[in-house]
Amino acid sequence: MLKFIVSIFWAILALIASGGIAVATSLYFFPLKASKLDMSAGENLFSERCSGCHSNVQGQISGLGPNLHNIGLVAGDRVAGQTAGEYILESLLYPQEFIAPGSSSAMPAGTVKDLNTDEIRSMVAYLVSLGASVDYADIAALDITVPDEQQSEDEYSVAEMRAGWHLFSRELGCIACHSIYQEPGSALIAPSLEKASQLPADYVLQSIRAPGDQIAESYVQRNYKLQNGESVNGRLQAETESTFLVYGFGSDGRRRMHHLDKSLVVEAVASDISSMPPYSLSREQERNLIAFLHSLQGGGY
Ligand code: HEC
Ligand code: HEC
Repeated sequence: MLKFIVSIFWAILALIASGGIAVATSLYFFPLKASKLDMSAGENLFSERCSGCHSNVQGQISGLGPNLHNIGLVAGDRVAGQTAGEYILESLLYPQEFIAPGSSSAMPAGTVKDLNTDEIRSMVAYLVSLGASVDYADIAALDITVPDEQQSEDEYSVAEMRAGWHLFSRELGCIACHSIYQEPGSALIAPSLEKASQLPADYVLQSIRAPGDQIAESYVQRNYKLQNGESVNGRLQAETESTFLVYGFGSDGRRRMHHLDKSLVVEAVASDISSMPPYSLSREQERNLIAFLHSLQGGGY
């Protein structure tokens, strides 16, 4: 028995010595293929973070970046000595190393800095599968190390802040409701965001995607029904013993403060809909907005 075990030991050793890397990687890739490589997770990550710039559908117009519908097929020919998986991984971790043919703009660094190695591996596998069949041994052998300087979160470039300011003030018009300065009346319609850097990014994202989920009490919209049959919509700005001060719209459609005599109010019905519309933005737009809001430390832009 012992002799048998010893001879297996030598056989394995001989195999490793001769087949070297091939044996080591295939030993690694079988358990990995079963447990860690998740193509649909890779696809989801791609649509969340990359599809704003890259289409994966043939013939479709892409964003800033090239269309990747057949990247698995062409990636292996981009840089001499790199496999498809290696090239794609390098595109993610060090996008400045090689600029894809025909591209005038550069891909930003740090698009995967907050992902773990299994997630990055799954995304690379998904991309390799576009236009080609996946060589699992190649994927398993990838050495995934996110560069240190990309790992710290919350560092936004000036370009991102500027793009965010453009979205906030022009394209999306957030500024119609939100002030970014502390001044009298600046919080009448919506909370003033001059200290938005103190709001956690997740909370801000949630506020933008689904404003109704958490409406601050002072911004709940109410419908005040009056004895004479009329009604007034708005938010309660203040109240005295005898009066509600309600900020809403006048009959001319302009914003105004209503002074409602409490004794004439029959009922006040709260709405669970925020007066802020939900926004469905690309990852890039969201990041730019966060970058801009992050720069608001109390004074203004
Ligand atoms: C802000 C836009 C932007 C985002 C977001 C972005 N990319 Fe890119 N990407 C580019 C641009 C521009 C290029 C071409 C220039 C270059 O190669 O660096 C590129 C190039 C690439 C290439 C090489 C393509 C080729 O034909 O050689 C790959 C692969 C790639 N991106 C994958 C991704 C993945 C995966 C993500 C998401 C994690 C992503 N990109 C996010 C803009 C972007
Ligand atoms: C029509 C007016 C309106 C517009 C336009 C609007 N908001 Fe709002 N926003 C509100 C109101 C009202 C609230 C408070 C009630 C709530 O949370 O739903 C709010 C809440 C928020 C909050 C949470 C603030 C806090 O202190 O809790 C953030 C962040 C925010 N908005 C960002 C934005 C951004 C970014 C845009 C543009 C993409 C935008 N808003 C556009 C009215 C608006």
